[in-house]
Amino acid sequence: MMIDLSDKVAIVTGGASGIGRGICLVLAEQGADLAVTDMNLAGAEAVAADVEATGRQSVAIQVDVTDRASVQAMVDRVLERFGKIDILVNDAGIIGVGEWWERERPSDADWSQVFAVNVRGVVIVSEAVSDHMIGRRSGKIVNIASIAARQGSPDLPHYSTSKAAVASWTQSNAAQLARYNINVNAICPGLLWTPMWQAIARKRSRFGATDSDVEGLSGRELFDQVIEETIPMGREQTPDDVGRLAAFLVSEDARNITGQAINVDGGRRMN
Ligand SMILES: NC(=O)c1ccc[n+]([C@@H]2O[C@H](COP(=O)([O-])OP(=O)(O)OC[C@H]3O[C@@H](n4cnc5c(N)ncnc54)[C@H](O)[C@@H]3O)[C@@H](O)[C@H]2O)c1
Repeated sequence: MMIDLSDKVAIVTGGASGIGRGICLVLAEQGADLAVTDMNLAGAEAVAADVEATGRQSVAIQVDVTDRASVQAMVDRVLERFGKIDILVNDAGIIGVGEWWERERPSDADWSQVFAVNVRGVVIVSEAVSDHMIGRRSGKIVNIASIAARQGSPDLPHYSTSKAAVASWTQSNAAQLARYNINVNAICPGLLWTPMWQAIARKRSRFGATDSDVEGLSGRELFDQVIEETIPMGREQTPDDVGRLAAFLVSEDARNITGQAINVDGGRRMN
């Protein structure tokens, strides 16, 4: 299927790393110009350069999605540079504070900061960008949730709860914005070997979380074992896999899909 995003302008938060970087590159490949936004400016600049190497235009912007003033400044800069925003992908997310993997039970700071970024951050950015989209009676928003939204977890309860909130917010925001011709959907990625999962592996090697014997395994070996034991299709997911679904959801081919959360997880969760 050919997806045509030419002349579209997209903002991706968390674009400097992992899944966000993959989404930026797939959207650019389909023709979109990109605002690569992240707390990590140097990382965002490197991805913006990769986007430009594909022939599209790009700008890197530093943003903290938990801070309304920082988010409004980001939106203003994108509008100044490109004149409009067609697409927003809310990818920025965290799983804990500092060396969170050293704690068996998440701390108060883990709970509050994970909610601030994963839940409030998505709401703050969506509200700032949809104010512009409402005026144009057009827009596409994709929120990156997780399969953690589908099933509570013994060792990452704060993260699972935050991602379930993202799936619920996606429905609320889709209902709010449908009358303005704005689609809002979520993607629930499965297991990807990004810096986030590398930290999860550190925690699981230390405290365990499954019945499997993880003693002596490296982080990557532990990850491979989880893939083998829990993913019916037997393979890990990649940022490119998530980017491909994002590109479809923000295209006109998906104009009648809204309020949905779709798993990209090799069959791990079928709900
Ligand atoms: N890795 C996985 O297996 C997996 C699975 C399901 C869902 N996810 C979700 O996908 C998204 C990306 O995860 P990833 O694995 O690529 O993680 P990552 O840590 O590689 O990237 C996350 C990016 O978000 C940025 N960020 C963090 N806080 C921010 C803030 N306050 N403002 C702006 N940017 C901020 C970071 O600087 C980083 O570049 C997250 O929402 C994560 O919860 C990841």
